[in-house]
Amino acid sequence: MSDAPILAGINKVADLEAAGDFEKKHTPYIECVRDGDTVRVTVKVGHYVSHPNLPDHFIEWIAVHAAGVPVARFDLSAVATDPEVSCVLRVEPGTAIEAMESCNLHGIWVAETVAP
Ligand SMILES: [Fe+2]
Repeated sequence: MSDAPILAGINKVADLEAAGDFEKKHTPYIECVRDGDTVRVTVKVGHYVSHPNLPDHFIEWIAVHAAGVPVARFDLSAVATDPEVSCVLRVEPGTAIEAMESCNLHGIWVAETVAP
């Protein structure tokens, strides 16, 4: 288990390699693919370790921030969805991209990368 503050405000895992399954199943996985002036950002929860997707335990929403600004948010239900979303952003290379997700039982989790 990492030193991440579990269920305290926004959870961010500093070292995913050293993290346990609980942290891994909640940490958003971010993929960024550039196409000219735009970047397709795909965010998946459960990439590292599968997260439950049941009526009493599921990912409520996923949000994307670019350079600290909220740019997309997806509200999800436990029925007929998987916690994976994507959006296309018009951002410069090197722009900070942050993904946040909210588990209805285990709070908000965040991960970050930079746009290619
Ligand atoms: Fe959870």
